[in-house]
Amino acid sequence: MKTTIAAATGSYPVISGHGILKDVRTLAGVCEGGRRAVVITDDNVAPLYLDTLLSSLPADTPRHIVPHGEASKNWTLAGELTEALAADGLCRDDAVIALGGGVVGDLAGFVASVYMRGISYVQVPTTLLAAIDSSVGGKTAVDLKAGKNLAGRIYPPKAVVCDLDTLSTLPGTEWKCGLGEAVKYAVLAGGEIFDIMREGVTENNLERLVDLAVDYKRRIVEEDENEKGLRRLLNLGHTFGHAVETESALGFPHGVCVAMGIKIIARACVKAGMLPKEDYLAVTSLLQKYGFPDCPYPVGAVAEHIVHDKKIESGKINVVTIRGIGKCDVVPMTLGELKEFVS
Ligand code: NAD
Ligand code: GLY
Repeated sequence: MKTTIAAATGSYPVISGHGILKDVRTLAGVCEGGRRAVVITDDNVAPLYLDTLLSSLPADTPRHIVPHGEASKNWTLAGELTEALAADGLCRDDAVIALGGGVVGDLAGFVASVYMRGISYVQVPTTLLAAIDSSVGGKTAVDLKAGKNLAGRIYPPKAVVCDLDTLSTLPGTEWKCGLGEAVKYAVLAGGEIFDIMREGVTENNLERLVDLAVDYKRRIVEEDENEKGLRRLLNLGHTFGHAVETESALGFPHGVCVAMGIKIIARACVKAGMLPKEDYLAVTSLLQKYGFPDCPYPVGAVAEHIVHDKKIESGKINVVTIRGIGKCDVVPMTLGELKEFVS
C-alpha cells in the first residue's frame, strides 16, 4: 500500500508491505546516480534487520548503531552522529536512513534536519508505534533535561518504508505500547479503525490497521503540519499520559500511560455529560480488551505534573476531549479548570 503525504516542503510516500526491507533502496529512491546513504539504527534492531537493509545498498554504506531506549534521544548523541555524517563524507544530496522505532526515527530525523542545514532522510519503522504514528508527519526531536522532545523540528522524511514483517519480533511490552496509540486512533477516527481494534489485531488485519492509521494521520498533518490546531487531536490521552509517566518515574511504558490518559479523559467527559454512556463503555471495553490497567494514582496528584507540559500555551492546556467514538475536540483549559474537569 502506498499513501502519499503532502507536506509544505513537497510530498512523500509512505509504503507498507511484507518483505520490503530489502527493497528500501528502490522504494525510497536512495543511492541513485552515485548518491550515498548512511544508516542509523539501535543495538536491538541492528542484529535483526540491518543486514537485510544493507543487502540492497552499496557495500561501503556507513552505519551507526546507538544504544536502544529513550536515553539515546539526547543532544550529545545527536551531535556525535552529526559529526559522524561529516566524517562519512555525506553530501547535501545524500540521505540518512533511520531503521528502528520512534527513538531512532526522531533522533536520526533530527540529525538529518540539521546536517548541512538539512539533508534527506528515510524512515524505516520497526515498531507498531513508529509504523502508525512517529514515522509519519515529520516530527523529529531529542529530549532535554527539562523534558521530552523539547528540541526538535518538523522536518518531513523523503519516504517511509514499513516492512510489517519486522513487527513480528517486537517484545510484548513494545507491542502493547503500539496498541495504546492504536486505541488513540480508534477513538479519534472511529469507523473501520475502531472496528478492527474491537475485533482484535491479527496478522490478517494488521496491514489494514497500519494503512488506516497512516491515512488518518495524513489527513491531519496535511491540514495542520505545524500543530497550530487540528494536529493537537493526536495528543488524545497524552496530557495525562505524560503526567502518569512522570508520576510513575517512567515505571509504566509510554503507550500504557497514553491508554490510562484516554480512560481519565473519557471518564471526565461522561461525567460532564458530553460523552454518551454507550460510547464511554465502548472506549473502556477496548482498553480492557488489550489489558490496559487503570491509572493507579489519584488523578489530582497526576494533574500536578501537567504544569510542566510543553503544550501549555498562554496559560492554557489544549485538552483533547471525547464527544463520541470518532468525535473528539481540542478544548483549552486552565490547570484549575482541568483539575476540576477530571476530579
Ligand atoms: P523505541 O524506538 O525505543 O523502540 C522500542 C524498543 O523496541 C527498543 O528497545 C527497540 O530497540 C526495540 N525494537 C524496535 N523495533 C524492534 C523490532 N522490530 N523487534 C524487536 N525489537 C525492536 O520506542 P517506540 O515506542 O518505537 O518510540 C517511542 C519514541 O517515539 C519516543 O521517543 C516518542 O517521543 C517518540 N514519538 C514520536 C512521535 C513523532 O511524531 N515523531 C510520535 C509518537 C512517539
Ligand atoms: N504523535 C503526534 C504527532 O505526530 O503530532
